[in-house]
Amino acid sequence: MIHLENAQFAWPNEHAVIEIKNFSINKGEKVFLKGSSGSGKTTLLSLITGIQTVQSGLLVVRGLELKKLKPHKRDLFRGDHIGYIFQQFNLLPWLSVEDNILAPILFSKVKRQKENGHHHEKVAELLNELSLDVDIKKQARNLSIGQQQRVAVARALIGNPEIIIADEPTSALDGDRRNDFMNLLFSECEKRDSTLLVVSHDSTIASRFNRVEELENINGGFHV
Ligand SMILES: Nc1ncnc2c1ncn2[C@@H]1O[C@H](COP(=O)(O)OP(=O)(O)OP(=O)(O)O)[C@@H](O)[C@H]1O
Ligand SMILES: [Mg+2]
Repeated sequence: MIHLENAQFAWPNEHAVIEIKNFSINKGEKVFLKGSSGSGKTTLLSLITGIQTVQSGLLVVRGLELKKLKPHKRDLFRGDHIGYIFQQFNLLPWLSVEDNILAPILFSKVKRQKENGHHHEKVAELLNELSLDVDIKKQARNLSIGQQQRVAVARALIGNPEIIIADEPTSALDGDRRNDFMNLLFSECEKRDSTLLVVSHDSTIASRFNRVEELENINGGFHV
């Protein structure tokens, strides 16, 4: 589902932050990628989701070499097939909780069809499973950080994407909320056999994954 080979990326005027010789994630696999702050986790996710593109080497997601697609095609690809929980959440602050969660199905016919007209029920279901008891008409900017993170999680799961990518998804959650989140994440993934990649330095959630990798072990492979 995700394959990198000799993939390299450097931010402008910097040394390469990503140099991955070989790394793959199979369909339906649930992978936890650990790495220290500044090691390139968010950068790697921005490549896999097509926000950035590799400068050399191969990065294939769902059979497509992303750097060969035009930027708007990469945006469509991400919108249709990926649920991305951003490290900074990236909610639209002036929109309500409900409109933030529904935004992906507004922009993607693929996700809309998968919800099959039941998207309002799905919003209620996701919020319930995440123990997020807020007025769905409330603006996102007026939520606590932990509440915003759960809205970001619900937004990533709506439309049942085949690939779920999460960047430090539990950073603002306490122990109980963290368990709710992990239960929901794994039950949603299992329903659809979704492929899951979570990057974090929170090792407490690692035990539920099929595979745990250290970014340091797969990155920088060009020099060993
Ligand atoms: N937009 C950017 N422009 C220039 N350099 C960047 C940019 N984003 C990240 N970097 C640099 O790339 C390196 C990796 O950053 P990245 O955000 O991928 O790390 P991370 O592993 O996600 O860290 P954290 O755990 O703190 O979120 C850092 O040295 C950072 O300064
Ligand atoms: Mg990061």
